[in-house]
Amino acid sequence: NDEKLQVAIDGPASAGKSTVAKLVAAKFSYVYCDTGAMYRSTTLKALRNGYKLDDEASILKMLANTEITFKPGEKQQKVFVDGEEVTNDIRQENVTNNVSTVASLSGVRKELVNRQQQIAAAGGIVMDGRDIGTTVLPDAKVKIFLIASVDERAERRFKDNAEKGIHVPLEKLKQEIEERDYKDSHRKVSPLTKADDAKEIDTTSMSIEDVVNAISNEIVKKQSV
Ligand code: CDP
Ligand code: CDP
Repeated sequence: NDEKLQVAIDGPASAGKSTVAKLVAAKFSYVYCDTGAMYRSTTLKALRNGYKLDDEASILKMLANTEITFKPGEKQQKVFVDGEEVTNDIRQENVTNNVSTVASLSGVRKELVNRQQQIAAAGGIVMDGRDIGTTVLPDAKVKIFLIASVDERAERRFKDNAEKGIHVPLEKLKQEIEERDYKDSHRKVSPLTKADDAKEIDTTSMSIEDVVNAISNEIVKKQSV
């Protein structure tokens, strides 16, 4: 039985969601959708336009005329805004430290959730974010909530940065992660929270391969039901 399922992966910053989601999607030949990249792309364009990030009216008008697309890439998926590649730009510090503000705007969430549901409609999807299991794909057959200690997550980000030649002190990364988690968990509209029917996996001392295998087992289990 190789029924194409919807796989929802949520969790706090740097828990490993996008890394494992991409690998799981490849393993099952599913489509992978990084919803965080959509919030980041919206934030990048708003910053470039010089909008205040609480100016929801301007950001919504902008978003209505903004195309966000993905293309498969070697190490990570490539992200395009209005045809321009922004894969690296959306990971920069000023986007990272402002994205939670934009993601708390209810109109922005409504529009992006709509787009995400359209992407998922084809079936056979792995989608990662904060509200996938609770809001975007509430009927997903496989729901995973990935967590890891904040020290481990800061170290993972530190290593990612080092590979890119970026140096932000570990303590600062830890503080930024904690602040973003707090904002994401306390916003009014679809905050980060584990869906009741999600399986929580603590990845603190797991390898990427271990996590991919654990999620794959969940998929295979549900395929045979
Ligand atoms: O990869 P990282 O954990 O840094 O974050 P991300 O998945 O790229 O998401 C960036 C930000 O977008 C999050 O901190 C949330 O504020 C927002 N987001 C969201 O609100 N809902 C989602 N489904 C995905 C991301
Ligand atoms: O998407 P999210 O912000 O949750 O995490 P990510 O962007 O996938 O980053 C996680 C980082 O931790 C990557 O550099 C992974 O190589 C590393 N990592 C992991 O994802 N899972 C583990 N079990 C161990 C390390």
